[in-house]
Amino acid sequence: MEKLSVSWSSPSNIALVKYWGKIPHQIPCNPSVSFTLKNSLTIMDVEAEKTNAGEIQVDFFFEGKINEKFKSKIVKFLESERERFDWITNYKLTIKSENTFPHSSGIASSASSMSALCLSLLSLDEKITGVKTQTEDFYKEASDLSRRASGSAGRSVYPYLVSWGEIDSVVGSSNLFAAPVNKADIHPMFHDYCDSIMIVDAAEKSVSSRAGHSLMDSHPFRELRYKRAHENLEKLLSAMKEGKMEDFISIVEEDALMLHALMMTSTPSFILLKPMSLLLIEKIRDYRAKTNIPVCFTIDAGPNIHLLYPKAHETAVKEWLAMEFKDLRIIHDETGPGPVKIKD
Ligand code: PMV
Repeated sequence: MEKLSVSWSSPSNIALVKYWGKIPHQIPCNPSVSFTLKNSLTIMDVEAEKTNAGEIQVDFFFEGKINEKFKSKIVKFLESERERFDWITNYKLTIKSENTFPHSSGIASSASSMSALCLSLLSLDEKITGVKTQTEDFYKEASDLSRRASGSAGRSVYPYLVSWGEIDSVVGSSNLFAAPVNKADIHPMFHDYCDSIMIVDAAEKSVSSRAGHSLMDSHPFRELRYKRAHENLEKLLSAMKEGKMEDFISIVEEDALMLHALMMTSTPSFILLKPMSLLLIEKIRDYRAKTNIPVCFTIDAGPNIHLLYPKAHETAVKEWLAMEFKDLRIIHDETGPGPVKIKD
């Protein structure tokens, strides 16, 4: 029987202006922008064996073990993409996936895993149909497909800094697919950025992002949030172009706190921050005020704090972290080059 296989590694990303709230077909209610991470990767190997079974068949292994929960997510996604991949019911897929970062660590594993899956599917599609897509179109479709699989995953297919959603200042960024921000347009002080993830609580989050997005449908601050997110994104990009560190810090922190303020003020209300998250925020702001080292924080939908700072300050910041937070688990990451095809 014909057997084909491909492997991709794809990174997670951390949003600076957050996507929160969507309309059907995974269309975001506001544009967002994220740093693509370097070390937090999913490495995925997908093998397709011709069976002509006439139904979707998947074996899914996560870190060497069968994982039915992920498998059912993938099968559901493949069902929804039957038309795009008309060969999908003729092949049995064996998917082996591994993450280079721990599970439930405040690093978005759905962004890295779903983008790795979509890149692999498109590579398989090229092999099966014999139609090779131009590189630019390949990544555009990978972003569109990854978005449909898991919203923010659409941003993971590009390097460094990536926007998704309708926004004037990034060419190609749309609600359907993300687009890379040209690094040459960004001030060098933002070129190499570290993200040290301070793990407050590694437990599975109590409210899924899907439930969180849907609470925005009837949120009293909905319109205000979307207006502010647009403004924040435009301001953030110009601060990054012009090298305005203070503006960068105030927008990034405001947007993270706004995400959590929206959660706290939705109906029902929910609070993902822990007392320790607030303590860390206070310590980060103190350290910045005392040393003038431009550290700032962002937070995803969870209690863990992402400490962002220019790589030029890495030694000093890491020394501070090691001294001040001896008992805290910290995962160090930084901006990275995006997905890599490992095997074709
Ligand atoms: O892609 P989702 O549905 O997991 O939502 C992501 C939501 C945030 O991580 C909070 C923000 C973002 O833009 O990544």
